[in-house]
Amino acid sequence: MSVLRLAVQKKGRLCEPSLALIKACGIDFNSRAQQLTAPAYNFPLEFFFLRDDDIPGYVHDGVADIGIVGRNEVEEKGFPLRIVENLGFAACRLAIAVPAAFDYRGLEDLEGKTIATSYPHILKGYLEEQAVKADIHEISGSVEIAPAIGLTDAICDLVSSGSTLLHNNLKEVETILHSTAVLTAAENLTEEKTAILDKLLVRIRAVQRAAKHKYILLNAPDSKLADIVRILPGMKSPTIMPLAEKGWSSLHSVVHEDDFWNIVEQLDQLGAQGILVTPIEKIMY
Ligand code: PRP
Ligand code: ZN
Repeated sequence: MSVLRLAVQKKGRLCEPSLALIKACGIDFNSRAQQLTAPAYNFPLEFFFLRDDDIPGYVHDGVADIGIVGRNEVEEKGFPLRIVENLGFAACRLAIAVPAAFDYRGLEDLEGKTIATSYPHILKGYLEEQAVKADIHEISGSVEIAPAIGLTDAICDLVSSGSTLLHNNLKEVETILHSTAVLTAAENLTEEKTAILDKLLVRIRAVQRAAKHKYILLNAPDSKLADIVRILPGMKSPTIMPLAEKGWSSLHSVVHEDDFWNIVEQLDQLGAQGILVTPIEKIMY
């Protein structure tokens, strides 16, 4: 029986949300620090804990079958990998930053300068596109200290909260790309592994859909039901049940989180009462 090998980041921004997503899919495992691999107990999956920068390469080489990694790493490494799902978490941007005291007015100020980065491929493409000639210094870690130690004039690195830049007295001046975590897969998985991946995707999508929606319950006067149904379409249409009190009904539906506050305001104006909102664990098809 085949087992799908999933590469996840062993330490860093992607690690915790990646494992939380797999747990939310109902997959049990035990991940202890220092471990390189761990099996799942109730799903044909094995974890490989790796540096995020190495994940595209391992998936491409077939050491792992699939990986959870930032889109930035997939683009930088340039292997022909499939992106099978956008996972949406670990949002960050790849940006150029300069020392806070640098009087930066525009890209032309980078002309002839040196820039340290772990993303030489993306940076090179960007500079060419912007017709800026700068010298790229590829370094694999601690890029943020390069200007302070006199190695380069600027850096190009991932920015998430911005605290790394702040701590190193750097300021962000250009954004090159926005990135979030993706599920990436090798192009040539066996039929058996593809079937496992499809099962995993059904679960991931159910969890992702659920995270974007809320279950809403409310009481409303019967005279307003038609208006409320119009703003609360739900998955198919809302459930309506009569309350013990005459002239009132209870209505249950599902709302997208983006519309949530807007809808709640309208419900209030329509006389809805006892509005309860709960998270949803999974939404299947
Ligand atoms: C990135 C980047 C910074 C940090 C920025 O590292 O290299 O160190 O995140 O985050 P902040 O804006 O919230 O301070 P990454 O997570 O890719 O780890 P790695 O460089 O060790 O692979
Ligand atoms: Zn990294």
